[in-house]
Formats: sequence, structure tokens, C-alpha cells
Amino acid sequence: QELQLNLEQIEKGGYDHFMLKEIYEQPNAISDTFRGRMRVDEGIIKMAGVDDNLTKLLNAKRIVIVACGTSWHAGLVAEYIFEELVRLPVEVEYASEFRYRNPVIHQDDVIIAISQSGETADTMAAIKLAKEKGAFVFGVCNVVGSSISRETHAGAYTHAGPEIGVASTKAFTTQITVLALIALKLAESKGTIPKSDFHYYLQELERIPEKVKISLQSAAHVKSIAETYKEAKNFLYLGRGFNFPVALEGALKLKEISYIHAEGYPAAEMKHGPIALIDEQMPVVVIATKKGHYDKIVSNIQEIKSRQGKIIAVVTEGDVTVKELADHVIEIPETEEFLTPLLTTIPLQILSYYIAVMLGKNVDQPRNLAKSVTVE
Ligand code: G6P
Repeated sequence: QELQLNLEQIEKGGYDHFMLKEIYEQPNAISDTFRGRMRVDEGIIKMAGVDDNLTKLLNAKRIVIVACGTSWHAGLVAEYIFEELVRLPVEVEYASEFRYRNPVIHQDDVIIAISQSGETADTMAAIKLAKEKGAFVFGVCNVVGSSISRETHAGAYTHAGPEIGVASTKAFTTQITVLALIALKLAESKGTIPKSDFHYYLQELERIPEKVKISLQSAAHVKSIAETYKEAKNFLYLGRGFNFPVALEGALKLKEISYIHAEGYPAAEMKHGPIALIDEQMPVVVIATKKGHYDKIVSNIQEIKSRQGKIIAVVTEGDVTVKELADHVIEIPETEEFLTPLLTTIPLQILSYYIAVMLGKNVDQPRNLAKSVTVE
């Protein structure tokens, strides 16, 4: 028993929980994901699974992403990235819905299946269905040699290393990294972005691990915010554009490990329902980075404030306007808009982590949840 405990402590590498360790591993995990694939000086992205199937991918009329849970949120971020950079229509489907509704799939559709474990039953079934209908299926998995990585026609691993905490953290950011690499590669090949932008985006992606490190430095501040709101019964998370899926993911993290009810919403949808919930008891986490409809987000924040909601805003460093309105601000470094989810996610992971710890919950193994869901 004692030996087992010690072993676990060693595996946690000095962190109290695997989740915290995995949050802090993200700078390295993201570097590992693009290492050897992205040659910034030469302006090249090399990914075997993409290069070997480039014509198929370039000729795709549509991309359909299938996934569950956090991987589905990474898919939503990818939808925004692919549409922006590659100008290709993308649909993101819950694997469980997709598999049971006789979906319309054409032979020139490319299906991207995203799965950390590579074992999720619903995602696996969705892949088999898409293959039967003649589509090309590309996998984005973390676990090497997993069932999904074997069932797909081609793929790219995330290389995040083992993720033990049930609540997914580094798998999410590395999934976004892989999907951004694929989008950049296709955009460059198709000519949907200028060469100069392509080079600049590679440089910017290379700087992300450093910026994740900087974002992690807000942990103590985020911990104090957690202390203030740990007793809240509900949380609302709002974001727009690339950061709308981050709002969903932030809410999911809180639900999963602290059992506090939380909802993620596109900020502009607030007026169609969630605004009715806002009062002085309601903490609202708003992603309000400089790029991406900043003015609109500012007016959403004003609407929350006038209803006495408590505002926790994730802002770009140096922000002035939101700082004046919000009860708390958490700064992240500036980057290209499509890469902001890699940074805005970090404080939300930390917030849910500390709230769960303060409430005495089992952070690494939350009740009723499993790391890999191999049954329906
Ligand atoms: C479970 C896990 C989640 C995960 C989801 C999809 O619900 O608890 O963290 O996001 O499955 O898993 P996958 O391995 O397919 O990414």
C-alpha cells in the first residue's frame, strides 16, 4: 500500500494531482506536438499522414469532424480554424448523434475523428459508418496504437504523452495544435492564405509554448478567484468566435471535477436565455481577448454588469477597457486570433482545478466519469 502511494507520488512529479501536472506539461506537450513537423525557417509543415494523402485532403468538398466530450470541443475550434484558413465547410458532430441518424456522407467528404484515448465506442462506431459510406477517415489520437488510430485510413498523433487525469487538459491543447498544423498545411497548399501570412503563423505557433508558460503564471491569481467563488451554485462561461468552444470547455471542466453546474454559451446568445439567470450570485467567466469582436464582448460585459453578475474576464495583457468593468481579470499574452484558444483555455483549467480542490473533490477521478468510454 505504502509502496503504491510512493510510486503514485513519483509519477505525479511533485504535483498534488495528475491534472495539475498535465496542465503544467502543456508548454512541452505543445512543443512535442509540432516538433519535427514544423520547420519554421524553411516555412514547411511535414506530417506523414497529411503528406501521403494530400490530394484527398485538398479535394475534399467538406470536412466532418466526429468526437465526444473535450475532443468535440477541440473539433469546434478546428471548425473555426479550417473555415478561416482553408475556406472549407466544416461540420462538427457528436459521434453518438452522427452514428444513429443515417448521416449524409459523400465520397469526397473527409471525416476527422478526434479522440484522446482512441477507444471511445461512439467515435469508433461513427468511423466505421463513415468508412462504409466510402469517406476518407483521418484520426487525431493521443494514444499510440489505439483502436481508433488503427481503424482510420491515416492520422496524426497529438504526442501529448500519457494523460491520467480524467478531465482532459493537455490532450485538448495538443489536439488544437495538430488541427491548426493540418489547416495551415492545407491553406498553404491551396493558396487560401498568402505565403507571408503562412510564415508568420508558423512563427506565432512556435511562440505558443512560451506564451502558455506565461499564462500559467497567473495560477496564484486564479487560485484567489477560485477561493472567492468556490461556493457558487452556478457558473456561466461566455466566448465568441474561436473562443466560443473554449467557453464550452471551461464549463465542462468545472462540471466534471467540482460538480458545480456550469454552462458555456456564445456571448451573443446570452440575451436569448441565460441573461435571465444573471444576478449578484452568478459568476460569469468571459473570454474577452483583444482580437475577435472585442467591442461586442465589451457590450456583453456591460449587460452582465448592469444585472450585478460577477465578471471574471480573460483578457489580452495590457487591456484597459474590460479591466474597468470586470470584477477580476486574468491576462494572457497576445497572439494570432486563431491561436488564442491555446492560451485562453489555461486559466479556465486552473480555475476549475482549484475550485475542485477547495471543495475536497477527487480531481483526478471524478465520480461517474471514466477516462475512456468504451461502452455506449
Ligand atoms: C470521456 C472523458 C473525457 C473525454 C471524452 C472523449 O468522457 O472523461 O475527458 O473528452 O471521454 O474521450 P476521447 O478519448 O475520445 O477523447
